[in-house]
Amino acid sequence: MQYVTLTIDGTEVKVRAGTSLLEAAKKAGVIIPTLCFLPGRPARGVCRVCSVAIIDRRGLVPACATPAAEGMEVETQLPVVQKARRVVLELALAEHGPCDKNVCGGEQKCQLVQLARKHGIREKRFDTIEKTSREDLSSDNIQVQLDGCILCDRCIQACGDLQIIARAERGAGTHIIFDADRSMEESNCIACGDCVAVCPVGVFK
Ligand code: SF4
Ligand code: FES
Repeated sequence: MQYVTLTIDGTEVKVRAGTSLLEAAKKAGVIIPTLCFLPGRPARGVCRVCSVAIIDRRGLVPACATPAAEGMEVETQLPVVQKARRVVLELALAEHGPCDKNVCGGEQKCQLVQLARKHGIREKRFDTIEKTSREDLSSDNIQVQLDGCILCDRCIQACGDLQIIARAERGAGTHIIFDADRSMEESNCIACGDCVAVCPVGVFK
């Protein structure tokens, strides 16, 4: 088994080659915030909340999707890192729009708002991103209200091998669909509830 040694915020840590920076940081006692990462699933690296800096390397990298390498010096708290995380969260808040207590649970319960607050964000800086309202109440088992979706892909990852949930379209029109855009009732969803459990903004009920 091959190991690599690196530092995270100055703490030296030895991990198996291929271990993500997120896991290596945990081993070093450093907790990096995440949003799209779902433990036990391959990282998709879409939200960038876990961004970190690597000394002598340009730009930031997502800790969940970047493997540790020998001699890396990783910094998780530099001002540039914290600023980038805040911007990412502010954009996610714009994607989410106003909290709805019947969907995300309202500001006090919305996981996104709570994560943003932990990073010192009290006010929304960017306007809500306008999008087509999408709800699907066709199924008795799982109802869907996609207006507040932040496209974190956690539901896609949780759906795993079934692959009922996917992204459709690109750019501003990107949205979540079920089984090639069937209604939830007509889809092959087995109502396992995994998407309900992982969505940070309560899209599934
Ligand atoms: S429905 Fe929820 S879990 Fe799925 S992409 Fe949107 S916010 Fe993420
Ligand atoms: S948690 Fe790493 S990119 Fe989203």
